[in-house]
Amino acid sequence: MAQPSSNGRSQPTSAFLTIDGVTKRFGEVVAVDTIELDIAQGEIFALLGSSGCGKSTLLRMLAGFEPPSSGRVLLAGEDITDLPPYERPINMMFQSYALFPHLTVYDNIAFGLRRDGMDKTAIAQRVTEMLALVQLTPYAKRKPHQLSGGQQQRVALARSLAKRPKLLLLDEPLAALDKKLRERTQLELVSILRQVGVTCVMVTHDQEEAMTMADRIAVMRDGRFLQLGTPGEIYEHPQTRFVADFIGNVNLFDGHLVVDEADHCEIRCDEGLFHIGHGISGTLGAEFSVALRPEKIGIELGRREPAANLIAGTVAGRSYMGSYTAYEVELASRRRVRVTVSNADRHADPFANGAEVMLNWADTAPVVIAD
Ligand SMILES: Nc1ncnc2c1ncn2[C@@H]1O[C@H](COP(=O)(O)OP(=O)(O)OP(=O)(O)O)[C@@H](O)[C@H]1O
Ligand SMILES: [Mg+2]
Repeated sequence: MAQPSSNGRSQPTSAFLTIDGVTKRFGEVVAVDTIELDIAQGEIFALLGSSGCGKSTLLRMLAGFEPPSSGRVLLAGEDITDLPPYERPINMMFQSYALFPHLTVYDNIAFGLRRDGMDKTAIAQRVTEMLALVQLTPYAKRKPHQLSGGQQQRVALARSLAKRPKLLLLDEPLAALDKKLRERTQLELVSILRQVGVTCVMVTHDQEEAMTMADRIAVMRDGRFLQLGTPGEIYEHPQTRFVADFIGNVNLFDGHLVVDEADHCEIRCDEGLFHIGHGISGTLGAEFSVALRPEKIGIELGRREPAANLIAGTVAGRSYMGSYTAYEVELASRRRVRVTVSNADRHADPFANGAEVMLNWADTAPVVIAD
């Protein structure tokens, strides 16, 4: 159910965390610029963007380490903008999740609970529960240096969850892990967060990590949200060139609108004619870009007369990636197009360097981008 708020935004009544026009200035620099966001209880939300776009600053304001220059933060209906960090029911796991090296796993997890004066039996119970949650029960007596990177990461998570925060903030939680371990830990982490049901805002500059872990993603640039949506929405319907390019691989073509009907439109680019299966209500002649993902392009050997959604090229390079092969196909204009082909058949590899090919795609494959 939605109701209009005072500023005209439609917001879910179930909003658990509300970021209301939050801005942070450091002198001349606007690190975070008028962010509006509602997050539901139990949601895993990712802030995704390149270095310096304001991700950590926004997270630090949620934690209370940095006061906003303007705007408000509400948690479970309560305005917490002016609460100091230790009075917020929030825990933040930092970019480098330093554990106390001289303390055992058990004592690392118990640390915050002892500081809060929780009684010994209750602490033992909570730590035991947390150890089981992150599957480290046999490791309770070890010191951090006696654990693998992934295990240390889980201790840090257990420590962050021990006080049962209402909101968990994760700043690049897996940055210290190598690729393979990071991928496995992403899934473990999501499963733990879901079990606990904690609401989570995480920061990452790794788009695959955001897509694997988050219910929704905000792509940030220069302190603002460029686009906000589920991983599928952001990948399949990027609204800007930046988002299209930032999330996964994409081929971008520039052209102008030549046909615009209710059920289709056509965009003429130097490389060919794009026939697209929906109208866009644009001005004829206006400039648009078309984004086409490499996996949505079909490739076949031979030469035919080019047509709408059909262009000719020559294989100029290929990378065998195991599960798929990526081809660089050069067009007459010398422009290169990336095409990926799934290696479903172990021995199929008909597109040698220099082969003449035709590229084609469905009229649902391209995305029209106005900016
Ligand atoms: N304490 C500060 N004083 C002045 N400028 C700051 C301060 N903290 C951050 N900034 C600036 O604010 C901007 C956003 O920084 P922030 O740390 O939020 O980026 P980020 O998105 O987390 O980047 P990264 O991916 O590199 O961690 C940067 O331009 C940064 O230089
Ligand atoms: Mg950061």
